[in-house]
Amino acid sequence: MRRAAVLALVVAGCTGTEQMTYEQALDPEQCASCHPDHVRQWSGSMHAFAADDPLFRAMNARGQRETNGELGDFCVQCHAPLALDQGLTTDGMNLADVPKHLRGVTCAYCHLTEAVEGEHNNPLRLSADAVMRGAFEAADGAAHESAVSPLHDRSNPESSRLCGACHDIVTPKGVHLEQTFAEWKGSLFAHDTPAELQTCGRCHMPGSDGVAADVPGVPLRRITDHKMVGVDVATIDWPEKEAQRAAIQDMLDPTVYARLCISRVPGGTQVDVDLENFAAGHAFPSGATIDRRVWVELRATLGAREIFSVGRIPEGVAVATATTGDIWKIYDVAYDAQDEVAHMFWDVERVEKGLLPVPTALVPTDPEYTDPHVVRSYRFDGVADRIEMNIHIRPVGLDVVDDLVASGDLDPAYRDQVPTFTLGAANVVWTVDDGETCVPD
Ligand code: HEC
Ligand code: HEC
Ligand code: HEC
Ligand code: HEC
Ligand code: HEC
Repeated sequence: MRRAAVLALVVAGCTGTEQMTYEQALDPEQCASCHPDHVRQWSGSMHAFAADDPLFRAMNARGQRETNGELGDFCVQCHAPLALDQGLTTDGMNLADVPKHLRGVTCAYCHLTEAVEGEHNNPLRLSADAVMRGAFEAADGAAHESAVSPLHDRSNPESSRLCGACHDIVTPKGVHLEQTFAEWKGSLFAHDTPAELQTCGRCHMPGSDGVAADVPGVPLRRITDHKMVGVDVATIDWPEKEAQRAAIQDMLDPTVYARLCISRVPGGTQVDVDLENFAAGHAFPSGATIDRRVWVELRATLGAREIFSVGRIPEGVAVATATTGDIWKIYDVAYDAQDEVAHMFWDVERVEKGLLPVPTALVPTDPEYTDPHVVRSYRFDGVADRIEMNIHIRPVGLDVVDDLVASGDLDPAYRDQVPTFTLGAANVVWTVDDGETCVPD
């Protein structure tokens, strides 16, 4: 899809701005003079990080070795799609030598997409022109031509296909390993009614009023944030780290609605924990669900004395191997051909699901309604005067990290970079004054 450089001049309009070549249009640096905020937000995103991510590089390197190169371009088709398109890499083993502006999921990769020809494994078709696709009829003064595109309009359900095409993975063995797009399509948010429709961009690209370009004369518009956060963080020296973490925390905070119901049982206490995926437009967690580690912590005390505790996992201890009681783990577990737990894509034969489902309809009378609540009960001897719960998430399990360290593919120092987030709204406290009830009631 390469194309010879063409230098054109704007003919229409009063501007006369020099138009960028196709090669220039591929470079995010070329956008910064007019779209500084977009460039800054994107530069700290996982899209910018996708081909630099040490975890990615380690896993890809191991995959190439263990499959004798059969993995080929499978990983880079999403993590370095422009470099692949430009013929600068075939298997991702040389990513460090690929020019920085062609690594990751770049401005051009999204904005030059003219069609989406499938539902997983990146079937995006790039145009050979330098026309930036977007949601609106662009004003004069751009260094590029623009075009209105439903794929680039977050109020149009088509736009979820642009995102979903990469956010859905079927492995070479045919396992549907990451299903964010499929989950969304089965959800309430994919309904074509304005009150329910929430595309990927509606939630992941919050709007604000401003100008789309730092160019005189452009109108005030609804512009969109390009940080596009989820759960993953940049784990090396990288721009915008603080802003990234803060945005992740904000995104995660309301995700799960949690409720504790306390009742007395003979000799002790029963705690029913009821969880509902409240704010995600797909399962929670989603995406790399065999790598995510989400778990529930519950702690009951009487005065200063702890009488029951489950899921209190110290920093540095892997969730998969933690032994602090029968921990409620909310993630998928993959198995290989020998039915052993598998961490690597290419080994996976089957997946045991363990996620909080996405809501499918608003009201129980809707034929598509499925109950989004997931409940688990705990019992302990005696009576507590305070019970507190929390939900924690690590983007990647320390057991997965250790596996890659053991095979010599990842620097052991990576371990210390894995954060643990705690979901604000899922922090629920019951005290004895609440009695035998549910909190919140
Ligand atoms: C010389 C300034 C300038 C440069 C450089 C520039 N743009 Fe633009 N861009 C504009 C202006 C002006 C608009 C129109 C803004 C408006 O109408 O509100 C625009 C609009 C856009 C739109 C929206 C198009 C639509 O129809 O919705 C996209 C997407 C875009 N630019 C991407 C880029 C990318 C990617 C780069 C770098 C490769 C870039 N721009 C470089 C000035 C520029
Ligand atoms: C060309 C493929 C591609 C397209 C198109 C794409 N993404 Fe991504 N996205 C990725 C990759 C690859 C990553 C992860 C990089 C990493 O963590 O190493 C990612 C990461 C993300 C994350 C962060 C996930 C996390 O756990 O932190 C979010 C959120 C996201 N994308 C949303 C979107 C949205 C919204 C769109 C559409 C506007 C979109 N993506 C389009 C490939 C794509
Ligand atoms: C993962 C895909 C993706 C990437 C990467 C991306 N954009 Fe966008 N961008 C979009 C989508 C989708 C919209 C349309 C949002 C809407 O519905 O208005 C958009 C909108 C825009 C707009 C129009 C104004 C606005 O804020 O909505 C500009 C300008 C723009 N992008 C510039 C850039 C630049 C510059 C980069 C790189 C630094 C970039 N984009 C990277 C998907 C992307
Ligand atoms: C109703 C709002 C909403 C919609 C619609 C939505 N998301 Fe999300 N998304 C969230 C929230 C909240 C989170 C953080 C909680 C989580 O990790 O699930 C999230 C997290 C993510 C993550 C990180 C997931 C993880 O747990 O590793 C990715 C990737 C992502 N979204 C991509 C998408 C894509 C692609 C679409 C469209 C197909 C989409 N989202 C639609 C709200 C939404
Ligand atoms: C179809 C597109 C696609 C393909 C193919 C793909 N990825 Fe990804 N990858 C993504 C997206 C999208 C995310 C972000 C998902 C999320 O946030 O949950 C991601 C996230 C990741 C992450 C960071 C999240 C984590 O903790 O695991 C790693 C590492 C990764 N991918 C490695 C790989 C490797 C290695 C391969 C090849 C064996 C691969 N990916 C193939 C799209 C892809």
